[in-house]
Amino acid sequence: MSRRLDISDTSCQNPAFSATSGERQILDRAGIRSAGARPAPERQESSTVSRYLVRPVQPGDIEILSEKFGDRHFLDDRLLRQKNGLGVLFTAWSGDDPVGLLYLWLEPAEEPEITAALPEVALLTHLEVLPELRNRGIGSELMKHAERYLEDHGHEQVALAVHEDNTRAAALYARLGYQDWGGGKIVCHTYEVRPDGSVVREPEKCYVLVKYLKSA
Ligand SMILES: CC(C)(COP(=O)(O)OP(=O)(O)OC[C@H]1O[C@@H](n2cnc3c(N)ncnc32)[C@H](O)[C@@H]1OP(=O)(O)O)[C@@H](O)C(=O)NCCC(=O)NCCS
Repeated sequence: MSRRLDISDTSCQNPAFSATSGERQILDRAGIRSAGARPAPERQESSTVSRYLVRPVQPGDIEILSEKFGDRHFLDDRLLRQKNGLGVLFTAWSGDDPVGLLYLWLEPAEEPEITAALPEVALLTHLEVLPELRNRGIGSELMKHAERYLEDHGHEQVALAVHEDNTRAAALYARLGYQDWGGGKIVCHTYEVRPDGSVVREPEKCYVLVKYLKSA
């Protein structure tokens, strides 16, 4: 079966938020307001979260991560990028078991529009928690860990792309203080690995969300 690899591409530099009323309904349901509106209050971190350790991936993790999450191609690729200082693949652990992933993309965005509108912005990509362990704060903890990493490294802003139908993830991002970037929906891409190992790039419509970090 094919598996989605990533959501990382995005871009648009229209100065005004150009969502249609239907699009705004999705944003409203997700609690996302356009940039400039008051940010959603940050949710208190649950004590459950402390059960999970978050750290960058290590070469020895790849086998078990691949077993739990699949996407070997993605894991190998991001490990190599991390090794070359191009990003960080954060992993969340419950004891010896990996439970979640998030890749911090520190290279220029793949789309020229994003690099134009958000030059040098770091991108949070491929947030994924094992289905049976969702709603326990793991996704939030991965996000906050990546944000703290960026703050510690002097970043002032972070961005991400979320599929237009992924209202659940969008609600999570809104709770964490992410706001629509004001540039409207854009085409981003997922990468699917076919059973024969070939990788197929597929376009999909995404919202772009941004957040100013505490070091700003
Ligand atoms: C999106 C995703 C990463 C969220 O991960 P998660 O670990 O479930 O996220 P959290 O637990 O931090 O928050 C999710 C919900 O759990 C609630 N929650 C957080 N901590 C909790 C706790 N300790 N106990 C109970 N509920 C909790 C949150 O309020 C939130 O509520 P919501 O569903 O109303 O938004 C996960 O659903 C997933 O992997 N989805 C598939 C991949 C995907 O869509 N990725 C995003 C691409 S942009």
